[in-house]
Amino acid sequence: MNDLDALIRDTHAALAEAADLRAWDTVRVAVLGKSGTLTALLKQLGQFPAEQRRERGAALNQVKDTITNAVEARRAAIEQAEMDRRLAAERMDVSLPPRNSAPDGPPGLVHPISRTMEEMAAIFGAMGFAIVEGRDTETDWFNFGALNIPAHHPARADHDTFYLPGTRDGRPLLLRTQTSDAQIIAMLEQEPPLRVIAPGRTYRADHDATHSPMFHQCEGLVIDRDITLGHLKGCLIDFLRAFFGLSSLPVRFRASYFPFTEPSMEVDIGWNRRTGELGAGGDWLEVLGSGMVQPRVLANCGIDPRQWQGFAFGMGVERLTMLKHGIPDLRTFFESDLRWLRHYGFSALSPAILHEGVAP
Ligand code: DAH
Repeated sequence: MNDLDALIRDTHAALAEAADLRAWDTVRVAVLGKSGTLTALLKQLGQFPAEQRRERGAALNQVKDTITNAVEARRAAIEQAEMDRRLAAERMDVSLPPRNSAPDGPPGLVHPISRTMEEMAAIFGAMGFAIVEGRDTETDWFNFGALNIPAHHPARADHDTFYLPGTRDGRPLLLRTQTSDAQIIAMLEQEPPLRVIAPGRTYRADHDATHSPMFHQCEGLVIDRDITLGHLKGCLIDFLRAFFGLSSLPVRFRASYFPFTEPSMEVDIGWNRRTGELGAGGDWLEVLGSGMVQPRVLANCGIDPRQWQGFAFGMGVERLTMLKHGIPDLRTFFESDLRWLRHYGFSALSPAILHEGVAP
């Protein structure tokens, strides 16, 4: 056996003995490393007489290939064995109940905002609404133009819009100021009839005790052939009574103006200004905006307003949550104060209920 065969044999033996990557690496370095045996042989090549050098060089290259392959194969085998061992050792029983990850406190609670959106989804879901999602970053066409709010419409100024650098489809980008963009998305992506809600985040450059630069809205849209104001009223009365758990909650519709609905109505619920109690007392509190979808908006989305009509509504999630749970300050929603969250949070396991006595 010549020196090269011996080197191959010894390397194979050493590799076979290397049980983990660290031992494997020691073998690799001892042979192929800068001061490795094979590297040394390659360096000595120059000392061979010219007529032998060619043959010796070819033989060394072949040895190098053989050894490199063996080294790589061993590494793969060790890694595979290690993976097999871990898979066997770390098998977990996914049917076990979770351990309490915060032993000093309650398990995580659902934020009141999430809770309200779950309840909205449950109540409107029972009425046959599906959920659609808009986009937080939107072009001015979806947020304004398609909703019949053209470039110099005063409603744009009211929205304190955050504009973003850049454009999409050649249109200015912004953070959406209302979830009404989801109406446009729904009408473009789906064929009527439509019955959707779109809960989500909205943004306006406004910050004080009653405004947060990021807040949440829930939009609603119904498109069908024979939709009337009566449907709008029935739907929203049922929703508000179910949401507040008050089967005789007074609801009032008051004429208003939104560019994307005609006629438009603001919706008030009865309450007592002095005590804050909902449902009694003769005072009114505005809770949402609504109206019959303006035919131009339908046409903007390729829907024929002579065949289809509908109603839309939009409400502030924080506002409804504050009213329902008596939360006095909007800013606390986003301060992530654990004491506040423990006080106002909801158990993830309690389902988003429909309240008693209200058939949605
Ligand atoms: N987007 C309106 C806002 O942010 C709320 C709204 C009013 C939505 C009337 C509607 C609607 O869909 O019909 O103030």
